[in-house]
Amino acid sequence: MLIPDIIIAIDGYSSTGKSSFAKSIAAEFSFLYLDSGALYRGVTLFAMENGFIGQNGNIDEFSLKKSLENLDIHFESGPQGSRTFIGGRCIEKDIRSLAVSDKVSPIAALPSVRNFVNYKLREFGRKRRVVMDGRDIGTTVFPDAELKIFMTADPEVRARRRTDELISKGNAVSFEDVLKNIEERDYIDSHREVSPLTMAPDAIVLDNSEMTMEQQMDWIRQVIKDRFCTR
Ligand code: DC
Repeated sequence: MLIPDIIIAIDGYSSTGKSSFAKSIAAEFSFLYLDSGALYRGVTLFAMENGFIGQNGNIDEFSLKKSLENLDIHFESGPQGSRTFIGGRCIEKDIRSLAVSDKVSPIAALPSVRNFVNYKLREFGRKRRVVMDGRDIGTTVFPDAELKIFMTADPEVRARRRTDELISKGNAVSFEDVLKNIEERDYIDSHREVSPLTMAPDAIVLDNSEMTMEQQMDWIRQVIKDRFCTR
């Protein structure tokens, strides 16, 4: 199916499968996939490794903001798809750890961090034909995106999927810890002052609690066909 040069914004709760869905859409329509959460995770890893987060969890926002001016964080495409780098170091595995997941929401709530990430995302998305996933893509980063999807699913279903994924990658985690992390992140992401997770008024809801990836792909094909394909 041929579709015009649009931006597809996919927002929604943690662990709803946004990135897997976005990657499949990008592969099917030859779009560029951009994972905005990876940049927030990368900044969090950088903050952890450089002592900007204290033992008590306090964040030295002033020093972090200053250091972001020189932070080279970017995506590189390879045989396994797009990976996140800081300078020459691939941080893809490190940013998916539970340690980073635990700290990312407070870091992503900082206005200076959001400005930094939004600037990068708009740069990467300039050429359009982009599918980007996150929490505020359709509301803040690309409010003019031609197609906005808001993903949701039952928290226990999300925790089960996430636990299985982490265990399959060799991380020893419990379902209870993952569920707790998901519920905490839902709360912080939806209640922060700057750019909270909210649905854009023109977004379409996709609840995938009981859907397979193939069913989600059938759904998006139909949506795209109805909206953008006249023939
Ligand atoms: O999608 P993810 O779980 O990898 O995102 C990690 C965190 O980053 C998540 O807890 C909220 C934050 N985030 C955000 O605030 N805005 C975005 N556009 C993407 C992610």
